[in-house]
Amino acid sequence: MSKTPIHEDLNAVIRHHSERLAQQLHAQRESLFPPDASKQMRKFMSGEAAALLGVNDSYLRKLHLDGKGPSPELTPGNRRLYSAYDIQALRELLEKTARKPGDYLPGRREGDHMQIIGVMNFKGGSGKTTTSAHLAQRLALLGYRVLAIDLDPQASMTALHGVQPEFDLVDGGTLYDAIRYDDPEPLRSVIRPTYIPNLDLIPGNLELMEFEHDTPRALAQGNAGLFFFRVREALAQVDDDYDVVVIDCPPQLGFLTMSALSASTGVLVTIHPEMLDVMSMSQFLRMTADLMDVIAESGADMSHDWMRYVLTRYEPSDAPQNRIVAFLRTMYGETVLNAPMLKSTAISDAGLTKQTLYEVERSAFTRSTYDRAIESLNAVNDEIAALIQKTWGRE
Ligand SMILES: Nc1ncnc2c1ncn2[C@@H]1O[C@H](COP(=O)(O)OP(=O)(O)OP(=O)(O)O)[C@@H](O)[C@H]1O
Ligand SMILES: [Mg+2]
Repeated sequence: MSKTPIHEDLNAVIRHHSERLAQQLHAQRESLFPPDASKQMRKFMSGEAAALLGVNDSYLRKLHLDGKGPSPELTPGNRRLYSAYDIQALRELLEKTARKPGDYLPGRREGDHMQIIGVMNFKGGSGKTTTSAHLAQRLALLGYRVLAIDLDPQASMTALHGVQPEFDLVDGGTLYDAIRYDDPEPLRSVIRPTYIPNLDLIPGNLELMEFEHDTPRALAQGNAGLFFFRVREALAQVDDDYDVVVIDCPPQLGFLTMSALSASTGVLVTIHPEMLDVMSMSQFLRMTADLMDVIAESGADMSHDWMRYVLTRYEPSDAPQNRIVAFLRTMYGETVLNAPMLKSTAISDAGLTKQTLYEVERSAFTRSTYDRAIESLNAVNDEIAALIQKTWGRE
């Protein structure tokens, strides 16, 4: 008896698999996040709030007892819990009586330019989204006015911020609307607030891919103008509204990434210290340089404030990783950030429920696991904040 061969067209099989997967994912999301559930930032213990504000907890307690500023929530054990909005209100209150202006509001002052930080590497999974989301949230909690942009059609950073790319953005609403060649929308129309004060988001979804398709056509027709300035020009519309823009780039070196790179005043290259990743980074750097040469030839200004490598998913106990880290540090010196982002189950587990580590409760993890991960994230982000301050002429 011969078997009957099953002939099914590949496109039909793939479509069928895609539909099944989408249904399953949707069901999973519905159970984790009912459609009407909106994300919220967790509350902060008084010690955490004081650390974010850069004051002593006893001073914060005194403000509370004196009835100054927002009243924190009290736990049954009489511990004070502050929301991110309380912290921002305190920041503004403290700034009014600060010894030096800017002690509590660290953002731009007269003459400081907006920082645009592109987080890139074409190696998939090198930690771009994790780095971008934690950086954007940390800077916002520290009082910087931040705009996070998801430039990746996969939209992971968007999902991390509670926006569902395939449901919430059916009528557009990504950066594509503001950078397309045909009748672009004002940038403000695609900016949305998040559940974190000082943090706004431009979400992404598959529509961003259109820019990759439109650009060659526009170039051929001679109406692309300087395509690589589309992101920069769009951001110029909101130059007064933000201190820092963080752009999460897709894992490829297409027109979107080139436009983000040309807009960036600071560039963060995420690097997971393993041999295959380092080899692929070598190609990434060469291709980037070649493409930037072409852009520079058209007279574009390629100056930037800084470029740094950030080590991601680093395991200090792994000898081969350590050899690669040593090699990178010898080769690139101070352009490798001192603080690495440690590999931690706390970070990956938080990601499973579409949260950053800043959003999850400390009680969700073993204390030492949580503390080690958050210290590593804070160290990376604060080193970047210091670079931002340095760029503005402050140390
Ligand atoms: N420090 C870390 N510890 C543990 N897991 C991590 C860490 N950083 C990232 N991850 C996990 O590694 C995976 C890839 O990270 P991430 O999505 O940030 O990479 P990416 O460069 O943005 O990927 P892509 O190229 O697909 O956009 C995710 O599942 C994330 O949760
Ligand atoms: Mg990503």
